[in-house]
Amino acid sequence: MTSYAKHVNHDVSPMACPVHLDDVDLFGDGAQEHWYEAYEILHRDSPVHRIDGGGLTPGTDAFVLTKHADITQVVKDPVRFPSVTTMRLGKLVDQGLSGEEIYAAHNSLMTASMATLRPTQELYFRHRKELTDPWVGPGALRHREMITQHAHSLIDEWIDDRSGAARGFDVEFISRFARPLPQRVMASILGFPIEDIPRLAAWGDAAVTPFVHGSGHRHEMTPEQTEDMVARLDGFQEYIYEHVTAKRDDPQDDMISFLCDVHYEALDRQLTDIEIAGIVHAMILGGLETTQYALEEQAQLLCEHPGTFEQLRGDRSKLRNFVEEAMRMRSPTHGLSTRVTAHDEVFQGVDVPAGSLLHMRFGAANVDDAEFDCPYDLDLDRAGVTRHVTFSTGPRVCPGATLSRLEQQIAWGALLDRVEAIEYGADNDWLHQPGIMFGTLKLNLRVLLADTPLSLGTGRVASS
Ligand code: HEM
Repeated sequence: MTSYAKHVNHDVSPMACPVHLDDVDLFGDGAQEHWYEAYEILHRDSPVHRIDGGGLTPGTDAFVLTKHADITQVVKDPVRFPSVTTMRLGKLVDQGLSGEEIYAAHNSLMTASMATLRPTQELYFRHRKELTDPWVGPGALRHREMITQHAHSLIDEWIDDRSGAARGFDVEFISRFARPLPQRVMASILGFPIEDIPRLAAWGDAAVTPFVHGSGHRHEMTPEQTEDMVARLDGFQEYIYEHVTAKRDDPQDDMISFLCDVHYEALDRQLTDIEIAGIVHAMILGGLETTQYALEEQAQLLCEHPGTFEQLRGDRSKLRNFVEEAMRMRSPTHGLSTRVTAHDEVFQGVDVPAGSLLHMRFGAANVDDAEFDCPYDLDLDRAGVTRHVTFSTGPRVCPGATLSRLEQQIAWGALLDRVEAIEYGADNDWLHQPGIMFGTLKLNLRVLLADTPLSLGTGRVASS
């Protein structure tokens, strides 16, 4: 019997719920609705799960790691478990290619930028410390006021929609809050005009294609998908260059102006346009959908746990723990295949040969009962609430974690200020989107305002 409270739309999935290990498929159609049931089976029967032939080179395998202890060990040790990205960049550097040549060959601004700015683990640290930390790492705390303004102005856009409805009204939470908030925040940080968000969003959607439409644990795309993605990214580079040129002439208080001006101590020089464009691309790729899904799943957890929203309204000191617990229980990024074994290793008694690809299942590690008591309980008093690996951990922990945490806390702070309660609205027969991220693209919330009667439902409100 599973201890995971079945998701309201569990039964809509085209995939049958797994019962035995042989049924487990983390990557098939509709797998997302059964990920948590699959994790219970994997934790019990195959916590280090081999994917035959799933390695990076012919004849090598991949292993899905689901235990918190194994994943933290791996991500904390970049020598024993090197990053696939760093290995690939090293090969490009060995070929002696310039940023422009790498871009021409690989069609990726990020690859070109990373290869010249941070091809080694040491430069990776310096890149983060000098270039991104001041804006989306610890330095993100300076954005508090800007984020608060965006959160409230988004709520302003629908708070009066009730137009006489007796018990509040339905709001499509993704398009009216969870998606535009990180978009506006990121546009403000980078220094792009808010009115350009539809274009930035389209480029952002294209950039995440492998993680949504790629297949299997390696997020592989067909040549057609790659071609389509490249076509959809058309114009992005030129758009960034236009802004770089403008900001070189007339710097503002934003991240692109900073990148145009900064002296990168690690290489004792300034950044080129393509390097700046690669960093901007990484911010758009990493900083939009992830936080959107975190907010969306938090809203669902609140709908599934009646009374929690009111509890948080009454005691804001619990808000930080709510955000962390929600990210643990519904991690936006469930799994990434980004490390390999440099040597023969043994995890949970399973031999993992040198050269194996490791698929780190962060979503499973976060509900590992060897690490978290009653992992399926939303526990606002949980000790060590940030032990989850939603952002990974160790030296390569997500560089935008501080920004995302701040956005989530401010978002819910604003919603708690303006709304008395939320529950599922009508017409919520959605599935989570495909890929390795965990999020829905639609969520109707019924919003009850402070002067409306409080009557929380326990599940979806049936369509009338
Ligand atoms: C809830 C929101 C987020 C989640 C769950 C998340 C999760 C992750 C994870 C698991 C990694 C891989 C770390 C590793 O390899 O050990 C990562 C990397 C990354 N994240 Fe985030 N992230 C979030 C928000 C953000 C934001 C807001 C930004 C940008 C401002 C961002 C930018 C990046 C970048 C650029 C990388 C790649 C770093 C590298 O080159 O290795 N992320 N993120």
